[in-house]
Amino acid sequence: MSKVKKAIIPAAGLGTRFLPATKTVPKEMLTIVDAPIIFYVVEEAIQAGIEDIVLIQGRGKTAIEDFFDTSYELEDKLGKDGKTHLLERLVKIREMANIISVRQKQPLGLGHAVLCGQKVVGHEPFAVLLGDEIMVQKQAEANTIGRLKSIFEDTKSSTVAVMEVAPSEVSKYGIADVEKEARGYFRVKGFVEKPKPEAAPSRWALPGRYVFGPEIFDELQNAKPGVLGEIQLTDSMNSLAKKSPVFASQFSSDRFDAGDKLGYLKANIELGLDHPEIGADLKKYLLQELMPHLQKGTSR
Ligand code: G1P
Repeated sequence: MSKVKKAIIPAAGLGTRFLPATKTVPKEMLTIVDAPIIFYVVEEAIQAGIEDIVLIQGRGKTAIEDFFDTSYELEDKLGKDGKTHLLERLVKIREMANIISVRQKQPLGLGHAVLCGQKVVGHEPFAVLLGDEIMVQKQAEANTIGRLKSIFEDTKSSTVAVMEVAPSEVSKYGIADVEKEARGYFRVKGFVEKPKPEAAPSRWALPGRYVFGPEIFDELQNAKPGVLGEIQLTDSMNSLAKKSPVFASQFSSDRFDAGDKLGYLKANIELGLDHPEIGADLKKYLLQELMPHLQKGTSR
């Protein structure tokens, strides 16, 4: 079976980079314009033909599954008030995905979070989308997870997304040691999690989009804690790449690390500019009100 129909979205992290906001609100529920971060992530998966979403959650994260559930009172009220457009949007969101929620009972790392999805995924290939990275596809081609999915379906080999980062950035990411590109993607020799710049095999960083065959679970089951004492997904990808082909592909989507304060604000501005309701006014504000002050170094 080589069609990729399931996706694991790890969303169990504590969101410490966003405290105090994330004391009570899961970081995946922080808003980008008018929808939570997780909405954009699930939407990317669904657009790529994924049918089942396995959400890996921790304590205090039930707002995420509630977001994809029915809210009877709200839908009833919107219907009675004639707010059909909003009602339709809510119905569409709850119908967009079959969400299966799994608890990660201990914060043992990303690799462990993915392993928590094994019972639901079974012996099928699956995608992994990190729950705080947003990929927006503006061009008329497959989105990032869709591209990885089609390479997997052609090659039957695990395939991950990569992007080139500055040398000073490599220690923030998993890094791929790649061979020469052929057919539009690289064969990967190995991976290393958050290397020091001088020890990094390349500048090809992992932005949090992966498609795996079920054999990654064998590696995860035998994984030992790595960087930060956590079970790292990257380490298991490294052992897999030593045994069987693993590919890495670039992507054409705009990517925002919405789990980071600056990335989050950039996502709000850029998606705000594209928004039919506020885009034009936001552009006017940025250009006419804010820019002149920024250029002159004066305050508003
Ligand atoms: C995780 C992964 C890392 C990847 C990154 C993308 O790290 O472990 O390999 O490059 O996500 O954002 P984290 O950002 O959770 O520290």
